[in-house]
Amino acid sequence: MGNVASALTIWDLKNMARRRVPKMFFDYADSGALTEQTYGQNNSDFTRIYFRQKIARPLSGRSLKTTMAGQEVSMPLALAPTGMTGMQHADGEMLAARAAEKFGVPFVLSTMSICSIEDVKSVTDKPFWFQLYVKRDKDFVKSLLDRARNAGCSVLVLTMDLQLLAQRHKDLRNGLSAPPKFTPKHVWQMATRPGWCWNLLKTPRRSFGNIVGHAKGVDNLSSLVHWTAEQFDPELSWDDVAWIRDYWGGKIIIKGILDEEDARMAADTGADAIVVSNHGGRQLDGAPSSIRVLPKIVAAVGDRVEIHMDGGIMSGQDALKARMLGARGVYIGRAFLYGLGAGGEAGVRRCLEIIRSEMDVSMALCGERDVENTGLHNIYHNGLL
Ligand code: GLV
Repeated sequence: MGNVASALTIWDLKNMARRRVPKMFFDYADSGALTEQTYGQNNSDFTRIYFRQKIARPLSGRSLKTTMAGQEVSMPLALAPTGMTGMQHADGEMLAARAAEKFGVPFVLSTMSICSIEDVKSVTDKPFWFQLYVKRDKDFVKSLLDRARNAGCSVLVLTMDLQLLAQRHKDLRNGLSAPPKFTPKHVWQMATRPGWCWNLLKTPRRSFGNIVGHAKGVDNLSSLVHWTAEQFDPELSWDDVAWIRDYWGGKIIIKGILDEEDARMAADTGADAIVVSNHGGRQLDGAPSSIRVLPKIVAAVGDRVEIHMDGGIMSGQDALKARMLGARGVYIGRAFLYGLGAGGEAGVRRCLEIIRSEMDVSMALCGERDVENTGLHNIYHNGLL
């Protein structure tokens, strides 16, 4: 087992996670839709943006502090809502939420989490954020919103780009499910990861904690599979955004924006922020990378709504480039999942330390000491636009 303290980059954590997490769950994180073109370009397009180096500037007393959706954050970053996080490591959502809280950055709990809203509430002191998938069963959606409100969640992140599920070849080939099936292939994948198995045996949390026992008729694996398949909502519309916003009554962020017209519609709904996102390259393969469209979205609605982004952030440098291009903050998904798989809560902490240090040093070498003062003047980005 690798010691997460020895990891110098997120890629080191990824390699450690590969050795700790059964293949089907490691692959679930490390996959995009179809050809994975968008998944790959989310990452590689960052190399087309260059920092402007500046010398002989005062650099003491540096600060990465800012706000996201009005909440103070220690750096412009949140942990993204990711499905089945508790399958990268037992009780994964609880561990990641604690690491985020200690670091002073938001944790966003996915509807499709393993640990429930109440589980995460039980191990955190400060409010976390909740991500909603709009299911066809609107009574269930309302009950999720009630539960998130009762748990004190301070922000609702409404994901709009998963009206149906795109094909991810690895998941189909692996026969992914939670809890895992017990075919010889799955048993072998788990048996070769004994530390992971041992931790999972010690926790009762092995299926979708927000759904099983809460949605009507869902009490075992086969009813869950059936329910999930029939709950995608092909009729999801902007009218749904309006009633969800009203029913929630608190801060709301709309996630899944890649297009300027959609960005204007989202701004019109009075959202507190929007997330420029292609779902980590997991939905529409062939769509542009998030970083590539970010400047266009900023130009279209940046004066009306706060803009966040996700997709491809694997370093503090990536996060800083996005901030300089106009995102107030970014979300990391895979980067923290790799930390989690590599070493539980300590691994997520290590991930955040790595990103913070990379962001701090890169900002300083651009001649800046306060992230609030960074912007387009710190980069060359013509190659991307
Ligand atoms: C769910 O959000 C997924 O991308 O798997």
